[in-house]
Order: sequence, then C-alpha cells, then structure tokens
Amino acid sequence: IEETLVLVKPDGVARNLTGEILRRIEAKGYSLVDIRMVQADRELLAQHYAEHEGKPFYEPLMEFMESGPVVAMRVAGNRVIEGVRVLAGATDPTTALPGTIRGDFGRDWGLRVQQNLVHGSDSVESAERELSLWFA
Ligand code: GTP
Ligand code: MG
Repeated sequence: IEETLVLVKPDGVARNLTGEILRRIEAKGYSLVDIRMVQADRELLAQHYAEHEGKPFYEPLMEFMESGPVVAMRVAGNRVIEGVRVLAGATDPTTALPGTIRGDFGRDWGLRVQQNLVHGSDSVESAERELSLWFA
C-alpha cells in the first residue's frame, strides 16, 4: 500500500482548517498512519524544498513555512500520492477548482508566495524522501 506525506501548512493551521483537511482525506478512504505538529526549522525546510533552491519564490517560501507550526501526516492508501494531489487542487489557489482544498479555501492575497494550505508529495520517490525527513 502506498504512503504519502501531507503537510497542513502554517496558513491552514492558523485558519483552523487542519480538521477539515484531515476530514477530506479520511472521507476519501485514506488512512492516517501518523501525525505530529512541528515548528519546522530552516534545515528541515531546506531539505524538504531542495528542488526549489535558487528559484525566485524560494526565500519567501522558506519564510512562510517557518512562520508557524505545520501539521505533518503520514497517510496510506491505494494510489494515495496522486489522490491527495487531486484533493489538494492546483498549486495556485486562484485557479484551483472548486471541490478541492485549495479551490474551496485558498485565497489569493497577492503575496510573493502562494499560501495554499496543504502539501502532498508528488511521486513515490518524493514521498519516501519526505516521510523520512518529517517522521525520522
Ligand atoms: P507543495 O505541495 O507545497 O510542494 O506544492 P506544489 O507541489 O503544488 O507546488 P511546488 O512544489 O511546485 O511549489 C512548492 C510551493 O512553492 C507551492 O506550494 C507554492 O507555495 C510555492 N510556489 C510554487 N511555484 C510558485 C510560483 O511560481 N510563484 C510563487 N509565488 N510561489 C510558488
Ligand atoms: Mg511540490
């Protein structure tokens, strides 16, 4: 059975959307295997977002992700990696479809980085790598 890393980002935690996000994941039939609240530090975030180093939104992304606690979840299910990405919706909340987490709750505040509530691993390799970072 496949596993993925889901993060409720600092905006999701601050807006009290952790339960709503987990509810959608469980309603879809996926199983919560582990969960923890974390104040992420630079080192963890740099490893998590290593693929984005050097991009224009990298520094704002780091600052956003360390601006408050995140809720990290290990979630299991059949094709859960792709499934959670579908539940999350498009990266940009402006164009994320209604019915998705980002489409229903994401706001475009015109910020330098999208505050898009949730992260889901994007591949089997990313999931394994990210789960070992957040659930060492
Ligand atoms: P994650 O699940 O958080 O990894 O989102 P994603 O896979 O949908 O997007 P991606 O990994 O490409 O980017 C990581 C995060 O960086 C996004 O969730 C956004 O917060 C931010 N980001 C990505 N691309 C852009 C961009 O072009 N401009 C801005 N301002 N922010 C971006
Ligand atoms: Mg990503």
